Amino acid sequence: MTERWSPSSWRAKPAKHIPEDYPDPAALAAVEQTLRKMPPLVFAGEARRLKSLLADVSEGKAFLLQGGDCAESFRDFSADNIRDTFRLILQMAVVLTFAGGKPVVKVGRVAGQFAKPRSSPIETQNGVTLPSYRGDNINGMDFTAESRTPDPQRLLQAYNQSAATLNLLRAFASGGYADLHNVHRWTLGFVAKSPLGQRYRKLSDKISETLDFMAAVGVNSNTFPAMHQVEFFTSHEALLLGYEEAMTRVDSTSGDWYDTSAHLVWIGERTRQLDGAHIEYFKGIKNPIGLKVGPTVEPDELLTLVDTLNPQNEAGRLTLYGRFGSDKIAARLPALMAATKRAGKKVVWASDPMHGNVITAANGYKTRPFERILSEVKTFVEVAEAEGVHAGGVHLEMTGQNVTECLGGAKELTETDLADRYHTHCDPRLNADQSLELAFLIAERLRDSRNELAAAS
Ligand code: PEP
Ligand code: CO
Repeated sequence: MTERWSPSSWRAKPAKHIPEDYPDPAALAAVEQTLRKMPPLVFAGEARRLKSLLADVSEGKAFLLQGGDCAESFRDFSADNIRDTFRLILQMAVVLTFAGGKPVVKVGRVAGQFAKPRSSPIETQNGVTLPSYRGDNINGMDFTAESRTPDPQRLLQAYNQSAATLNLLRAFASGGYADLHNVHRWTLGFVAKSPLGQRYRKLSDKISETLDFMAAVGVNSNTFPAMHQVEFFTSHEALLLGYEEAMTRVDSTSGDWYDTSAHLVWIGERTRQLDGAHIEYFKGIKNPIGLKVGPTVEPDELLTLVDTLNPQNEAGRLTLYGRFGSDKIAARLPALMAATKRAGKKVVWASDPMHGNVITAANGYKTRPFERILSEVKTFVEVAEAEGVHAGGVHLEMTGQNVTECLGGAKELTETDLADRYHTHCDPRLNADQSLELAFLIAERLRDSRNELAAAS
């Protein structure tokens, strides 16, 4: 950390993807001042807890499952949406826990995931050019000049929606909804309906047997309350630094600065310039943080970024999300993993198999083929094994709703199907079936690795 770091020191650095076209900067400053007085959404102690769990992940003792919407929106805000995605993450976690034989650290892309970096600042439709949509906490999706003008009041709405979302998630996590037996029952329902159910049945039957066995020896939700609850954390891309700055508070226990807008925040692929505003802001907060790593990063550059963001080499502090594309990962990832391994960097290596695998369908929809997503995760695990690095986890864009945004999966979604329920506010998400299916397929892979390890020892 530089001596002069403060929650606002990023303002002296070049900032990418932060809107500068607020018509009334004084109104924006007033909103930021209001946000400074709002209660924190998370506590520093919770962020430290997540950091210690991620330290376990970095040592291969746990697995990270992170997922949620590409962009949360005001329109799709509902208890049902929150519940369905939460439930899906729990289902995936049970499958992955069982197969991998390790605890799964559950982190939602939720309760703050609004602002989006865009490839172009402007959008043209039928000869009309307007600013691009940048996320519901900045401007609106409707293609009108009014809607596309940044409105600071949206920051307050996003804060309030995040607070309400987190409140419900906390209730679900501790109030009994997350009971292991419930979660597994839902998964059995999925297996019964899936065209590939036969393939997943072996694993799900084994989980059923294990739960029956535990019940028989007296381990149930009454005797072991942990079966009734889960630990669930929140995360988002900390893109809009004015908002993050306003939510940055000193923790009275440690005297350190924490971004209290989420447990974990990450830096996107487009805002990781070494001398830029985002790196500057992240240097000073003590949360566990993430960094997206794309196909253009070179090993030396990565090591410099790692040293800048985690100078003490603290385990659990930094998660690297490889997001290369299924066609590039095999060429790019090995040297990067070899570099962090050789330099003894205590990082979590996780796979974001979404952001390098976007294609445009013939009918114009932006989509992602399930096969490419699966292929990137599989290559990630293979490279990690070859480099002697722990394959720490996955970061997914997904929803508990039955949307039609990604191609393929057991139900073989086609390009024509995309038009049916294409609801995303930004990138295409895996739907509930595709997500759970992916969890089963990753689980198969993790089981194979475990069996190989056992056979070799
Ligand atoms: C995202 O996670 O939504 C995102 C924009 O990712 P990336 O920075 O990796 O492109
Ligand atoms: Co996205």
